[in-house]
Amino acid sequence: MLLDVYQDVIWWSVGIFVVVEALLLFAVLRFRRRPDDTGMPDQVHGHTALEVGWTLIPAAILFFIAIPTVRTIFQLQGAPPDPDPLEITVIGHQWWWEFRYPELGIVTANELHVPVGRTASLTLTSADVIHSFWVPQIGGKRDLNPGSENRLWFTPTEPGVYHGQCAELCGTSHANMRMRLFVDDSASFADWSAAMRSPAVPDSAGAMTFLISGCAACHTIAGTPAQGKVGPDLTSVGSRTTLASSMIPNTPEMMAAWLRSPDSVKPGAQMPDLNLDEQRIADLVGFLEGLR
Ligand code: CUA
Repeated sequence: MLLDVYQDVIWWSVGIFVVVEALLLFAVLRFRRRPDDTGMPDQVHGHTALEVGWTLIPAAILFFIAIPTVRTIFQLQGAPPDPDPLEITVIGHQWWWEFRYPELGIVTANELHVPVGRTASLTLTSADVIHSFWVPQIGGKRDLNPGSENRLWFTPTEPGVYHGQCAELCGTSHANMRMRLFVDDSASFADWSAAMRSPAVPDSAGAMTFLISGCAACHTIAGTPAQGKVGPDLTSVGSRTTLASSMIPNTPEMMAAWLRSPDSVKPGAQMPDLNLDEQRIADLVGFLEGLR
């Protein structure tokens, strides 16, 4: 839809370019100085018809570009044409993404999974400041405003992994507010959503460390007493490919580095440095990586 508008505008621009260049060439050739010209050429200052013409024509051009543009903006904001879209709520946070699938009962962060061929209907809002959802390859960009909801829908056609980025300056780590969009084939999506709904919670020293070290005040892990709402939901965090809003790969080493000093991985990170000793970090890494 966006592409259609761009293509229309490009063709109009090509037409305008041809007309303008043709008039320019005509004027250059027709009115060039000839050997027997001596005086000043005719002056057109104050020529009413010309003045009105070159005011009205550009205004008309802008008007004709504005109509399809504004119409498309409203279409994109409206309900998707698909009668049975996958509804997803996207909530922007400094500096990470929350994804909620109300019909599937799934809450996750920073890695958005959608099935190929089914329209994904996003409702976008923010928990703090204005962010902007942008996955360039699916087209479109939409602000996430605190206190109101925007909508964006798309129907993915190619399975794959697409990179996204917050597109609205939102503070220190705005540039680090990345995400990944996984367009899964139907079977992989079914596997992913089934795994998300029956998460494995390993019973280990790390589970207790998680509860007593303060982690649970901000993070939820389904099936445990950890029900904090401030930070990303960590249910199945071990199955994500990245950490810290898609900044770093999800490896035990990077997870340990993140727990040791969040702010040095992601400047301005809201996750506090809990001064965890190496034993606790090791326990937590083992526990978190086991959440799948
Ligand atoms: Cu969120 Cu920039």
